[in-house]
Amino acid sequence: MKDSISLTSEFVELYQEIRICEACLLHTTRKNAVPGEGPQDAQVMFIGEAPGLNEDREGRPFVGRSGSFLEELLAAAGLKRSEVYICNVLKCRPPDNRDPLPAEIDSCSDFISRQIQLIDPFVVVTLGRHSMRRFFPDATISRVHGQPKTVEGRLIVPMYHPAAALHRGNLKQTIIDDFSLLPGFIDRVRSLRRGEEVLGNSKTSSPRQLDLFED
Ligand code: URA
Repeated sequence: MKDSISLTSEFVELYQEIRICEACLLHTTRKNAVPGEGPQDAQVMFIGEAPGLNEDREGRPFVGRSGSFLEELLAAAGLKRSEVYICNVLKCRPPDNRDPLPAEIDSCSDFISRQIQLIDPFVVVTLGRHSMRRFFPDATISRVHGQPKTVEGRLIVPMYHPAAALHRGNLKQTIIDDFSLLPGFIDRVRSLRRGEEVLGNSKTSSPRQLDLFED
């Protein structure tokens, strides 16, 4: 695993922008914006839906029950929370935890793009439908969960939201099984990027190589 936990000034600026953002009405009801957390050189990035009550209070993602379950899932996959990056499609809590509105998702979209660009993770895991739609606009989560696709040299893996598994017990084993695939996905991208280094190519300038795991 990469080991640095320091954030570059670009990242610090991004977090500041998110904390004072007034692009949609959610800023009027938030206590705290929730930019995301984790090392800037994380190999895996999780994108959830939106902060809930506890996240809004603390300004940190996934600190409630879903967060505890996410940490269990990570541990089962041999990963620690401190080594992955966690954020949400929306940076501010929707009142009463209602579903994000399309305009709110649009307002936050550039923040996610910048987070992906700055972290450059091997694997992006989308948690839940709203996060999945960014990369799989027409997909149904029950059909595609756990099946990665390659976008710009990284694997995007749609998964159920941990809260869904907490509410629907029959999904628990499914999400555990999907998380167990993560180490293999990380290795796949690591090998590919190493191969590119050996060939003297930059991370993303080798479309032929990327085709090797295009689904
Ligand atoms: N659910 C999410 O999608 N994100 C959080 O931060 C907490 C719960």
